[in-house]
Amino acid sequence: MTERAGQPESGGGPRWYRQAVVELGFLTAAVLAAMVLSYYYYYPSEAGVVQPLPFSHRFHAGEKKIGCLLCHADAQDSPRAGVPPLETCMLCHKRIIVNYPKIEQLTKYYNENRPVAWQRVNAVPEFVYFDHSVHLHKGFDCGRCHGDVSSMDRVVPRPVITMGFCVDCHRAEGASHDCYMCHR
Ligand code: HEC
Ligand code: HEC
Ligand code: HEC
Ligand code: HEC
Ligand code: HEC
Repeated sequence: MTERAGQPESGGGPRWYRQAVVELGFLTAAVLAAMVLSYYYYYPSEAGVVQPLPFSHRFHAGEKKIGCLLCHADAQDSPRAGVPPLETCMLCHKRIIVNYPKIEQLTKYYNENRPVAWQRVNAVPEFVYFDHSVHLHKGFDCGRCHGDVSSMDRVVPRPVITMGFCVDCHRAEGASHDCYMCHR
């Protein structure tokens, strides 16, 4: 009986011991969760949507310093920035690394005239009116709304575009923040 004095409930060792095990479990789970979250926070280029054809902004716009407007020229004079047709890729890849498997895949799409279903990354709902050209003519850099795309392998929405994000800048820049501006 004396042996069980410190263990009023049977099995699994003393109460303090079982509590410690449970707490340690919670702590481990919390630490793991924090590690996973910070990984995606600090290495966002590892995340992002998988596109039907491999394409890296970090490589083209970053390392090779190809200007955004070569591929997104529509942004200058229309509401949409648009995604370039494969003709644009082929301006270079008719000659550059043609035998590289990823480029063979690109060439196959191009030759078969197969449309590429690029997945959208940034999108505002249909009831929101947005126009690229108006903002570019005001001198805003792509990075104000899209972050440092030239460091991203796969594009991630950073910052995430919310109504607050739009309205904060309109306030700061003295532009109208009347509801009808954006909700027509
Ligand atoms: C060589 C062509 C090319 C260049 C240069 C280029 N892009 Fe792109 N961009 C693409 C293609 C193709 C896609 C669609 C696939 C994808 O999301 O990666 C895209 C997608 C994007 C998207 C995501 C579209 C969405 O659905 O929200 C953003 C934002 C973007 N580009 C911004 C930029 C910026 C900013 C630059 C310059 C720093 C740039 N791009 C340079 C070809 C290009
Ligand atoms: C202005 C020229 C240019 C355009 C336009 C261009 N690229 Fe490239 N791309 C390059 C160069 C240069 C390389 C590097 C070649 C090397 O490594 O020798 C490259 C490399 C690549 C690679 C291999 C690197 C990797 O990520 O593994 C892929 C895939 C690729 N491009 C896809 C595309 C696609 C898709 C488009 C169209 C949306 C495109 N490129 C448009 C110049 C271009
Ligand atoms: C003032 C903020 C802002 C600036 C500056 C901006 N964008 Fe965007 N971009 C957006 C928003 C918002 C969307 C989503 C639009 C939608 O859903 O209709 C978007 C969408 C896109 C898309 C997806 C295709 C499309 O046309 O909707 C691409 C590509 C893109 N932007 C590229 C660029 C490039 C390249 C630049 C610089 C030349 C740029 N953006 C500058 C806010 C901005
Ligand atoms: C970086 C600052 C900035 C951000 C972010 C921004 N805007 Fe603007 N926007 C402006 C400025 C400045 C003007 C005023 C342009 C003018 O007066 O000519 C403007 C003008 C507009 C207009 C009027 C266009 C026209 O036809 O005259 C609309 C609509 C608009 N913005 C929508 C949006 C939406 C939607 C978002 C978020 C997705 C957004 N803006 C994000 C700065 C910004
Ligand atoms: C500068 C642009 C801009 C202005 C001005 C603006 N909005 Fe918005 N609004 C947005 C954008 C962008 C979204 C979409 C946000 C998202 O997808 O998270 C939005 C979303 C909304 C929604 C849907 C919210 C939801 O949770 O889905 C409502 C309701 C709304 N706005 C009402 C208003 C009212 C009322 C005003 C005037 C006081 C206003 N907005 C002014 C850009 C604007």
